[in-house]
Amino acid sequence: MSKYDVLGSPYKIGNVEIKNRFAVIPMTMGGLSYDEEGGFSDNLINYFELRAKGGFGLIIPGAVTTDYHVDPFSALGPNLNTNKHWQERARVLVDRVHKHGAKIFCQLTMGLGRNYPQLPGPSENPVWRNPDLKSPELTTEQIRQKIADVIEGAVVAKECGYDGVEMHAMHWGYLLDQMGMAFFNRRTDEYGGSLENRLRCAKELVEGIHEKCGRDFPVGMRLGLKTYIKDYDKATLNGDEEVGRTLEEGVEISKLLESYGYDYLNVDTGTYDSFYYACPPMYNPQGFMIPLAAKAKEAVKIPVLAGGRMQDYDLAKEAVEKGEIDGVGLGRASLADPDYPNKVIAGETEKIRPCIGCNMGCFRRCVETGEPVSCAVNPQACRELVMGLKPGDGDKKVVVVGGGVAGMEAARTSALRGYKVTLFEKSDHLGGHIVEAGAHSFKTEIAKLNAWYQRELKDLGVKIELEHEPCINCIKKKEADAVILATGTDPSAPPIPGLDKAITSLDAINHPDRIGSRVFIVGGGLVGCEIALDEVNHGKDVTVVEALDDIMAAGGAGAPYPNRQMIVDLFEDKKVKVLTCTKLTEVTDEGAVVEKQDGTAELLKADTVVSALGFKPTPNLKDEWAELGIPMCEIGDATGAGTILKAIWDAYDAANSI
Ligand SMILES: Cc1cc2nc3c(=O)[nH]c(=O)nc-3n(C[C@H](O)[C@H](O)[C@H](O)COP(=O)(O)O)c2cc1C
Ligand code: SF4
Repeated sequence: MSKYDVLGSPYKIGNVEIKNRFAVIPMTMGGLSYDEEGGFSDNLINYFELRAKGGFGLIIPGAVTTDYHVDPFSALGPNLNTNKHWQERARVLVDRVHKHGAKIFCQLTMGLGRNYPQLPGPSENPVWRNPDLKSPELTTEQIRQKIADVIEGAVVAKECGYDGVEMHAMHWGYLLDQMGMAFFNRRTDEYGGSLENRLRCAKELVEGIHEKCGRDFPVGMRLGLKTYIKDYDKATLNGDEEVGRTLEEGVEISKLLESYGYDYLNVDTGTYDSFYYACPPMYNPQGFMIPLAAKAKEAVKIPVLAGGRMQDYDLAKEAVEKGEIDGVGLGRASLADPDYPNKVIAGETEKIRPCIGCNMGCFRRCVETGEPVSCAVNPQACRELVMGLKPGDGDKKVVVVGGGVAGMEAARTSALRGYKVTLFEKSDHLGGHIVEAGAHSFKTEIAKLNAWYQRELKDLGVKIELEHEPCINCIKKKEADAVILATGTDPSAPPIPGLDKAITSLDAINHPDRIGSRVFIVGGGLVGCEIALDEVNHGKDVTVVEALDDIMAAGGAGAPYPNRQMIVDLFEDKKVKVLTCTKLTEVTDEGAVVEKQDGTAELLKADTVVSALGFKPTPNLKDEWAELGIPMCEIGDATGAGTILKAIWDAYDAANSI
């Protein structure tokens, strides 16, 4: 018994009983999902089994392709209708999920439309972020063919043992979504025009599936209740000037879908054009979706599942108790922690490893780089069989130097492998720079991650020595078999005249009282931009200056698209001034002198100049300590400032290799 009992209570979708309120919502996992013949890999099956074991009542894996007639290719992998091996492996997946009392639905896509080049849509529209390319218009016959393919897919899914199917998707601006919106759908046949015509595909799909699979076989719809777009590739932050789907229309659609025979709605918001609503980063508050889902729930009798930053179990519990939603959809939170439901239901919420909304290991790898999906804070996610924890190699003693996130992960992984671990940290607390990273009001999940690590280390019996910067003799005394150096970074201080008059990014975060009302932030990377957002939220007049031609662009491909898109729109909305292609040349008592792109200089008056010019690794100990003659490696920021993903993945790899 815990205060979250309501989240552990069963409910029904059609005649199918789901044992609790938690659902893994669909995520296409990429590369490691399939074997050579196009069936689900052992890795993927194991991944979902772990989530079923971790307590999820319903599992809906990422969308699968059904169309083998119209689209020239599928960005989602093999086709279930034509691939017998897919069907065999799907049966294995279903059995392994059922073994733990969970239900599993198959998400079937009708197509991706203009979200990807070459794929046809309802009308000719510019391809997402590729306006010079146009997605061709489907013929009426092609639409009918696609509907027939999805219905055939549902029959196959039922034969494979799935408990139901979900239509992909009137969300994220995929084909079915484009069909539903007048902005994208300008057809004059029976699939265009009135709302009922635009929903005709959705209607024919559910009717066809029920006819072939029986009325008892549940069919759901993934539905974006509001799209938050004001043009192609352009989001509306506060929902004004909506050209896509308003909430009122989303609610109207919910009612129509129920009347057509849909058995549940799996609701969210946004499209590719407004990715910070579709795949919301940390700047979008937890539970922002609930009031919208509640409007749909008010209008229908079928169950409503809500997804998109639904990780706050208190908000979720309250929403289920109030009858605002029936189920809690967790995508990225299920990547970060497979046991999330069991921990909530048992009231052990402090044990949950939080998703930090960074989009680095999941969204970016899936949509931007095409790498297999995983998770910044859970390096094993969806790679459990490929790079799971190795058994320890005897009774080794491991010393970790540096108690930032990399050091804590290295200590945790070493201890999990059965090694005796000592963690040295020179300051009086653990966390390193994630203390500052978690200080902004919109980044509390990072503070939670820090707390999670500290509790894990305590539970695992790691010996922590604070305020201790070890010398080589300390390491000798510990009789260490291996040393991991996670000594982190210090702020960079390039030779700019007067830079000592500026305060560092760390000081700005740790001592906000030192910041005056006119703030000038030098460096438009992630750190500088987040300080700017925090300061403007506190009513300050903020200017960001960046030497490159864009903000949040440094460091590989820069920030993931939804994160950057949201910062840019927040800056526009909150009137943060951004000067790109502009270099700081001097800091004076009056402010900052900058050199503009045309070579001219200007003094910009400010009360406080914040230097967010990046970080440099602390001096290298590896060479100095080489005489120890034991395996030693440097990880995380000590090898060059990077992201939390880099720090944690480096640390996991290093500690898993000892
Ligand atoms: C890597 C990735 C792949 C996704 N693939 C799908 C998909 O195949 N079908 C779908 O309906 N939604 C997909 N989504 C959207 C998620 O289901 C979910 O709506 C989104 O992650 C926001 O919810 P969350 O905050 O719980 O993660 C995907 C999201 C991510 C991050
Ligand atoms: S990579 Fe980041 S956003 Fe994605 S699941 Fe992991 S913590 Fe969450």
